[in-house]
Amino acid sequence: MTKILVTGGAGFIGFHVSKALVARGDEVVIVDNFNDYYDVGLKEARAKELFGATIIRADISDYKTMNKIFETHSFDKVCHLAAQAGVRYSVTNPFVYERSNILGTLNLLELCRNHGVKDFVFASSSSVYGNNKKLPFSEDDRVDNPISLYAATKKSNEEMAYVYHQLYNLNCTGLRFFTVYGPYGRPDMALFLFTKAIIEGQEVAVFNNGEMARDFTYISDIVSGVLAAIDKPFGFEIFNLARGESIRLLDFISEIEKNFGVLANKKFLPIQLGDVSKTSADISKAKKLLGYNPKTSISVGVKQFIDWYKSFYKVV
Ligand SMILES: NC(=O)c1ccc[n+]([C@@H]2O[C@H](COP(=O)([O-])OP(=O)(O)OC[C@H]3O[C@@H](n4cnc5c(N)ncnc54)[C@H](O)[C@@H]3O)[C@@H](O)[C@H]2O)c1
Repeated sequence: MTKILVTGGAGFIGFHVSKALVARGDEVVIVDNFNDYYDVGLKEARAKELFGATIIRADISDYKTMNKIFETHSFDKVCHLAAQAGVRYSVTNPFVYERSNILGTLNLLELCRNHGVKDFVFASSSSVYGNNKKLPFSEDDRVDNPISLYAATKKSNEEMAYVYHQLYNLNCTGLRFFTVYGPYGRPDMALFLFTKAIIEGQEVAVFNNGEMARDFTYISDIVSGVLAAIDKPFGFEIFNLARGESIRLLDFISEIEKNFGVLANKKFLPIQLGDVSKTSADISKAKKLLGYNPKTSISVGVKQFIDWYKSFYKVV
C-alpha cells in the first residue's frame, strides 16, 4: 500500500485528490491548517467526507511540527497542494503567501530530502504565464513576467523544486492548474460567486467589462492528471493541466444562466490588479507523457456544480 501525504487535503483540489486516492486503496494522510481565507465550514464538510484518510491539523510553515509528522509516518510520496491561493488576495495580504507558499514549500522539500521521500508532486498555476501574448501557453514559454505576488510564489516553487531535483535527486513534478471548478469548489472563484449572486438576486461583478477568457477545467479531469503525476515520477517536469479550450467569461456566465433560466444582473467593472485577461493552455505535453485526457465539457461541468451547490446549501 502506498502511503501518500496530501497537503491542503481539506481544500478544493486536495479533497478531491484525497478522495480518489483513498478510493483506489492508497493510504492517505492529510495536513491542512483549516485557515479562514474562506468559509471554514466548507473545509470541515470536505474533511467529514474523507472516510479512511488520516487528517492532521497543522501548518506547513511550522517545520518542527511537520518534522514530527514525517517521523511518525513513513511517506512514500508527497502531493503538495496546500497554498495560499488567489491572485486578488495577494495584493492586500502578501506576507501570508511568503509564509505558506515559499516557506511551506521549502519545508516540504527539506522534509522529503531529510526523510528519504523521493517523489514530490506539487501545485503550480497558470498564473505563472502572466500576460504572455503567445497563446496557447506552453510549458516551454518563458515565465519571467508574473503580474501578482501569488504568481511569483508559484514560479519560485518550480525553481525551488528544480534545485532539489538537481542537488538531491528528488523526483519533482509541478502541475500548472488552469481555473479549476466543480462541486465543493472555492467560494472566491467565479463559478461559485456567480451562482451565489444569481440565487440571491445580487449583481454579478464582471471584470474587464467581460473581456476575459479562461481555460476552465473540471475537477475530475484535474484529479486524473494529479493521480497520473503521482504514479509516474519523472526527474523534473512541469505540466499544464487544463481543458485545452479557452471560454469567454460571458459565455461561461450564459451557461450558468441557462441552468437557472434567468439572466444575471451583470455589473461591468475594470480589470482587477494582478488579473490576466486570458488564459489558454497547450496540453499536448500532459497528454503525451501523463496520458492526460480531459473529458468534461463546460455544460456538463457547470451543471454538476450547480446541482451540488443547490443540494449542499439546500437551495430549492
Ligand atoms: N483552484 C484553482 O483553479 C487553482 C489554479 C491554479 C493553482 N491552484 C493551486 O492548487 C492548489 C490547491 O488549490 P485549491 O483551489 O484547492 O485551494 P484551497 O484554498 O481550496 O486549498 C488549499 C488548502 O491549503 C490549506 N492551507 C493553506 N495554507 C496552509 C498552511 N500554511 N498550512 C497547511 N495548510 C494550508 C488551506 O486551508 C486549504 O484547505 C494550491 O496550491 C493552488 O495555489 C489552484
